[in-house]
Amino acid sequence: MQDYHDFLGEILITEDALQKRIAELGEEISRDYQGLDLVLVCILRGGVMFLTDLMRHITIPHAIEFMAVSSYGIGNRQTTGQVRITLDLNTDVSGRDVILVEDIIDSGRTIASVLEFLSTRHPKSLCVCTLLDKSERREVYVPVRYCGFSIPDRFVFGYGLDIDEYYRNLPFVGVVDLDRYKLNP
Ligand code: IMP
Ligand code: MG
Repeated sequence: MQDYHDFLGEILITEDALQKRIAELGEEISRDYQGLDLVLVCILRGGVMFLTDLMRHITIPHAIEFMAVSSYGIGNRQTTGQVRITLDLNTDVSGRDVILVEDIIDSGRTIASVLEFLSTRHPKSLCVCTLLDKSERREVYVPVRYCGFSIPDRFVFGYGLDIDEYYRNLPFVGVVDLDRYKLNP
């Protein structure tokens, strides 16, 4: 894999800005879900960094769960919206208050399918918390209750988001300069 310094266009969101905003979201969720049976459902793999930082700032009792989905893509960086559940929840969420934790909403198709799927499990409430929102690209309506940052229509990586599965570990969100990015041979 190419060194990311070779294709990093700019740092869009610094580590400090991410951590400050995630702390605010955690406080907001802690207030809003006081006394409720909160379950955070993280969508693998992009949402992992966000989930683990967010939960550290949630001061009320809560459980975490994981789901994985695969979308039938039309290329490396676009989804068709045909989503298949590849890892289902391990617990019953019926009657519980569920927040879906996502890294980014782009067309909205992935999250819309997951919401539809989860609603068949009859949670008491169900909402979306996304770190990033590329709202310009929205093709289907998604109700977003908590959003970290609205971002422009650029391909980003780091902090859970991958560029061809690499660099999810970076502590910031960077923009890929696609002219300088070489796909692995
Ligand atoms: P959607 O179904 O079009 O909303 O796509 C959402 C999924 O596409 C996210 O969960 C990410 O995995 C991926 N994605 C969308 N935009 C980006 C990006 O800029 N960088 C990395 N992954 C992205
Ligand atoms: Mg992804």
